[in-house]
Amino acid sequence: MSILTPDLIENYIHSLYRQEDEQLIRLREEAERLLVPVITRDTERLLYTLCGIRRPKSILEIGTAVGYSALCFAKAAPEAQIITLENRERSVHKARANIREAGLEDRIRVIHGDAAETLPEVEGIFDLIFIDAAKGQYRRFFELCEKNMAPGTLVVSDNVLYKGMPCDDSFVPERRHRTIARRMDGYLTFLTEDPRFETSLLAIGDGVAISCYK
Ligand SMILES: C[S@@+](CC[C@H](N)C(=O)[O-])C[C@H]1O[C@@H](n2cnc3c(N)ncnc32)[C@H](O)[C@@H]1O
Repeated sequence: MSILTPDLIENYIHSLYRQEDEQLIRLREEAERLLVPVITRDTERLLYTLCGIRRPKSILEIGTAVGYSALCFAKAAPEAQIITLENRERSVHKARANIREAGLEDRIRVIHGDAAETLPEVEGIFDLIFIDAAKGQYRRFFELCEKNMAPGTLVVSDNVLYKGMPCDDSFVPERRHRTIARRMDGYLTFLTEDPRFETSLLAIGDGVAISCYK
């Protein structure tokens, strides 16, 4: 009899997830080849499901990279207008090109700059906020976009388990990761203790936190 391991379960689940969008298939292959970090397939499926439940009309994303997750949001939430923030100029160009290729320029706006500086300029309430940028700054990003939240806003934070590092120091490979791991631990404590939010932590992908503003 085989032993049921997390890898076996993950491989089985992945075998069930099919991607039919040709642009997304190509972008994920390119991202894997060029080591561009994009959402895992588990996180992608979760975002589609959350969009199916919440039906957001406005989405704010922090961390665009090449626009993969922004394109997923546009497809998963056909009524949504999306604003996405990215500080790397090359990524901004690539994301805009990918968005143009998909014919979605009228629905996805990429704002170039450090989110800590661009977030204060972002106005309005968002139905869904996706945090997927510098891991040591999640709390700061969250606080900067509290003005963009209202009851019903879903805040999804990606990579919160950061390869196990917030769980136990033995997973921290180098000193420089320790600060990020501690900050992420602090962020998760803040999220789970804040009475304004209902938060669930999911051990999928690299860890996802889903917080609903009550
Ligand atoms: C994990 S990637 C985002 C992946 C993207 N959400 C996707 O799944 O397609 C993180 C991105 O955040 C950007 N980033 C990191 N710190 C940032 C900051 N302070 N402001 C804006 N963007 C930032 C990085 O340049 C990188 O492209």
